[in-house]
Amino acid sequence: MQTIRVETLSARYDVMAGRGLIQTLAPRIERVAGGLLHRGGLPRRVFVLTSAPIWALWGQCMQQSFSDAPVVLFLPPGEEHKNLKSVEGLLRQMIQAGGDRGSLLIAFGGGIVGDVGGFLAAIFMRGIPCIQVPTTLLAQVDSSVGGKTGVNLPEGKNLVGSFHQPLAVFADIGVLGTLPDRELRAGLMESVKAGIIRDRALVRFMEEHADEVLGRDPKALEKVIAASIRMKAGVVNRDEREGGLRMILNFGHTVGHALEQATGYKTLLHGEAVGWGMVAALYLARQRGTISRAQFERLERLIHLYGPLPPLKLRAAKVAAATGVDKKNVGGVRRFVLPLGIGDAGVVEDVTAAELEAAVGYMLARSAERHV
Ligand SMILES: NC(=O)c1ccc[n+]([C@@H]2O[C@H](COP(=O)([O-])OP(=O)(O)OC[C@H]3O[C@@H](n4cnc5c(N)ncnc54)[C@H](O)[C@@H]3O)[C@@H](O)[C@H]2O)c1
Ligand SMILES: [Zn+2]
Repeated sequence: MQTIRVETLSARYDVMAGRGLIQTLAPRIERVAGGLLHRGGLPRRVFVLTSAPIWALWGQCMQQSFSDAPVVLFLPPGEEHKNLKSVEGLLRQMIQAGGDRGSLLIAFGGGIVGDVGGFLAAIFMRGIPCIQVPTTLLAQVDSSVGGKTGVNLPEGKNLVGSFHQPLAVFADIGVLGTLPDRELRAGLMESVKAGIIRDRALVRFMEEHADEVLGRDPKALEKVIAASIRMKAGVVNRDEREGGLRMILNFGHTVGHALEQATGYKTLLHGEAVGWGMVAALYLARQRGTISRAQFERLERLIHLYGPLPPLKLRAAKVAAATGVDKKNVGGVRRFVLPLGIGDAGVVEDVTAAELEAAVGYMLARSAERHV
């Protein structure tokens, strides 16, 4: 097991990555914060937010270490349920089940459960403690760390939310055993991203050990997951609220978000969109000379090694137009994160429409080539 420390201005906590964590969750939570499960000898109300398919696979395993069974709340799977209506229903269930300011919430699921669970904990009785137990690769390496929580509006994704740091994160590699292959590969795109922007050694490891990682060898997965978390924690520690440095986590995301939006969030998983977005960003970087031709080819190869990325059936103009509505584009600036060699990155704000079109054009051409 590896432990990664997150230390932001507002909170300090550990992220644990390893095997066998969910079987021993209750004593681990007690160790993190004694008294969280009990108060004055009486059990506190403990809520677990999950979704039915995850609970069917792992619920028993996860519950076994609790002397008093937690109250289980279900969020139906799917991005369409990550909304305020679900939040209201869940808050009411928490009240009806006797929740109070002393309650604890455990978010046990993928990024959707983590975002909604964290948000419930942020606003229930003006805030209760939260433990994140992420069950997808994406949630383990990305969404469970950093304290961003929230839900979607019909107008766009993640438009309502709050920063609410967890008390601890337990990333159990064993639960990834049931994760569909496509979800695993998509999540690994965030690890590829982590390597490109901040960790040369991770890039090399992912190149050299792709078979083990994709074959879910526990040691290889633990290494990739821990390195990705360490990268994110390192950035969040220095910039909790996305003032500057945290922006680099958006590498591949300007075009990635545009692809998700242009396809109505239906055909591409987030990581797949980011994979293609990274291809576009790498092209831009190559054109600007912030990476060499050899580095460009090497990094694009790495992205496809963790593919296959689904074909993009889109027109360049539609993708380019969609990049303009990303909420991270402050004041209409077209912001791009570009790698500076391998393991470093910077933010540029002066990307021209022509540069963007060329990068999107390259990405679409690569998609067409790979899927003839
Ligand atoms: N808060 C943040 O910083 C942050 C960062 C990145 C993404 N996100 C959010 O994360 C969400 C996406 O998360 P995701 O990719 O984990 O998707 P997800 O939560 O929808 O999970 C993907 C699918 O895998 C299933 N699943 C989960 N764990 C499983 C397991 N162990 N075995 C079998 N099936 C399992 C789920 O039921 C679901 O169908 C988006 O809403 C996105 O906005 C948040
Ligand atoms: Zn992402």
